[in-house]
Amino acid sequence: MSKKRRLTGLQPSGNLHIGNYFGALKPFVDEYRNYDSILMVVDYHALTSLKDGPQLRAHILSAVRDYLAVGIDPSSLVLFKQSDVLEHTELAWILDCLVTVPFLMQGHAYKDKLAKGLEANAGLFTYPMLMAADILLYDTELVPVGEDQRQHVEYAREAAAKFNLAFGQTFLEPKEQISANVGVVPGTDGLKMSKSYGNTIPLFGNRDETAQAVMSIVTDSAGDVPANVYAIHKLYKTEAELAPLYESNKGKYKALKEALIEDIEAHVAPMREKRASISDDDVKRVLVEGAEKARAIASAKMADVRQKIGVAL
Ligand code: TYM
Repeated sequence: MSKKRRLTGLQPSGNLHIGNYFGALKPFVDEYRNYDSILMVVDYHALTSLKDGPQLRAHILSAVRDYLAVGIDPSSLVLFKQSDVLEHTELAWILDCLVTVPFLMQGHAYKDKLAKGLEANAGLFTYPMLMAADILLYDTELVPVGEDQRQHVEYAREAAAKFNLAFGQTFLEPKEQISANVGVVPGTDGLKMSKSYGNTIPLFGNRDETAQAVMSIVTDSAGDVPANVYAIHKLYKTEAELAPLYESNKGKYKALKEALIEDIEAHVAPMREKRASISDDDVKRVLVEGAEKARAIASAKMADVRQKIGVAL
């Protein structure tokens, strides 16, 4: 029996944080060999927020090193960068022509920007159709993501249905896969961990960076247990493992934070070591091979799409 196709992507808009890791990357990595897996660096999505060429280039290289360091073997899946497969932006345009402005105005990313009184660029507005293209091009069945991406996968389903209705059955309707307990990883202030809130703990920070982030965790808890520290600690150890530590350190927030720093360090140390052994050339080689594999799938799909919409003569 053939394996189900499962695909996800992360923006190289900054360094990955533990919310990205526990919410999306780890669930993907834990099971990627059981699926026909595709992992993307969605660099054109990052362009909606990042306008700095050298920085974007550095973030792309860094993101792929992160993927390899957390346990991805590039020969066991398709690992590529979005901008290397032109079919993504091509299909995004076609999908843009199928959806309405009011439909896109419901998008969280767009609405959040407006709510903050900021101006959204047109790329941010149509962003869900680029993500739909990422997913639909590969006949994806499952999309492992954090809770904040649920709406975007719904958008992809809607886009598939609209295209199929207009031009005949072409795209599968994908489903989101959101892990219980880690759909929303909390940040140092107890809100959703997010780069834009400045409440992150870096995945591959050095010891000082990790310690600084952990020490900044807000601890205005009413009881003996600092709720925000415990919520993050649970990502690294089971409740049974944590019980004696929290029992014997009631009200000792500093000691509990120090224990959390040790647990984060123990978890990341082997991955950090592996990461240090991966060069930029290794990354570039992986991306060239990945792009070839991705292009083979995407170009076959787009040949069918071009035929159906009538631009192929
Ligand atoms: P991005 O780059 O913002 O985030 C990458 C992944 O990390 C998850 N995540 C979290 N999960 C739990 N708790 C948190 N605090 C947390 N913060 C981030 C996100 O849900 C996401 O899964 N639009 C996407 C990227 C994308 C994509 C795709 C994903 C583009 N094309 C196709 C899947 C399939 C995004 O901006 O994710």
